[in-house]
Amino acid sequence: MAEQLRKLSTQAAAIIHSLPQTTCIRVISHYDADGITAAAILFQALYREGYDVHVSLMRNPFTKGLERVRQEENEVVIFADMGSGQLNMIEQFSGTSIIIDHHQALTQKTSKNILQINAHLCGINGSYEACGSSLSFAVAKSINTQNIDLAPLALAGIAGDKQYIGGIRGYNKTVVDEAVQHNLVTKKIGIKLYGDSLEDALYYAADPYYSGLSGNKQGPSDTMQRIGLSGNMQLDDLSTEQQRTLHSWLLLTLIKKDCQHNILDTVIRPRYWSDTVHGETERFADLLDACGKGGKRGLGLRVCLGDGDAFKEALQHEQEYKTKILQSLVALEKEGVEEKKSIRYFYATDSSLGGVIGGIAMNYILDGEKPLFSLVRSDDELHVSSRATQHLVQKGLDLGVAMKEAATVFEGHGGGHAIAAGATINVHHEEAFLGQVDTIIAKQLKG
Ligand code: C5P
Ligand code: ZN
Repeated sequence: MAEQLRKLSTQAAAIIHSLPQTTCIRVISHYDADGITAAAILFQALYREGYDVHVSLMRNPFTKGLERVRQEENEVVIFADMGSGQLNMIEQFSGTSIIIDHHQALTQKTSKNILQINAHLCGINGSYEACGSSLSFAVAKSINTQNIDLAPLALAGIAGDKQYIGGIRGYNKTVVDEAVQHNLVTKKIGIKLYGDSLEDALYYAADPYYSGLSGNKQGPSDTMQRIGLSGNMQLDDLSTEQQRTLHSWLLLTLIKKDCQHNILDTVIRPRYWSDTVHGETERFADLLDACGKGGKRGLGLRVCLGDGDAFKEALQHEQEYKTKILQSLVALEKEGVEEKKSIRYFYATDSSLGGVIGGIAMNYILDGEKPLFSLVRSDDELHVSSRATQHLVQKGLDLGVAMKEAATVFEGHGGGHAIAAGATINVHHEEAFLGQVDTIIAKQLKG
């Protein structure tokens, strides 16, 4: 029902166009690759119309950040890649609010001064068929059709939220097709590897995580020698035959780890390239995720807006970020995780990274039989991130619902998607919370 999305996007554009050019439009978005690209798309669309734009990138729980924004008394606030789960707070804002979200929508009805554009309320599955950036792109095009050139950023957001798993579909497919038709991207089938040398690319490969190679100092060069390649080779210098050998080896490495079919299918797949995003879109999403979740949110936005110096700085920052993630993944693979009847969990030190590590571990290290939770204690708060597989979701699992329900019992905040969700509760409830989640999920999986 893209028709409903078109109708609501037109309404959003009408709100924007009704504002005098002196208006400073506030944009609040999420701090991951999807949120950063959504913010960048909206920034460009609004700036091109002559508005001042003030962007903030936030993370869960949004409570403190939203309270600060409420006190600013903005005329118009646009929430991207968030908002539906924070409707109660947004209802308290005095001006007009536009929500562009793809997380599970809780309430359809809002006050008159709120326009809620949520994929789920437009008949679009927000977990697979549209994300914050593709929905923001729809709004940007309604503001001005010339904003179609922002499509590569939307494609990076789609990749950032892993909505290519199971094949690009729904509204995302419309965006990809448009980008191809307008020659804004070049489509090439390939694998995700990047770095100064083959050795370097394999060492820093975090997602996919190649057991024995990723984060392993000696593994890549030894293995490359064994298959007749050299770790010093540049990726571009590989012959077609050598590429084939490398790809087969990497796929075999994943198969040995029982990697699920739909994940294996994403390793070598159509990829979209554009100068707007400095190359391949998923690679760009990785860079933005490293900026956002690695404590440099503003840097990610600057990269999206075409700042060359920011791009160089981001590349450097990404190496440190990846090193941290890879160390945790190697340790998790070696030491294993804790286990309950229906869930698995592990402790992480950084709440932004817990979900990233959990997501990769779920797909490439552990079998996909139970969802994986990462727990991070900070002061009196416990941050929980949970990740699952499409297979578990098909069996009835809904992490968004489970996290919301369990967090509510302990007066915390929780929510998200069926396949990936988060929660924050008081740390004293850790054990009881895990028990509650375990029970809820056991019920969900039983049908
Ligand atoms: O925090 P984490 O990355 O694990 O969150 C996974 C997904 O769940 C994200 O899309 C996030 O926005 C969402 N989430 C939510 N409400 C929360 C925590 C996370 O909607 N309280
Ligand atoms: Zn998103």
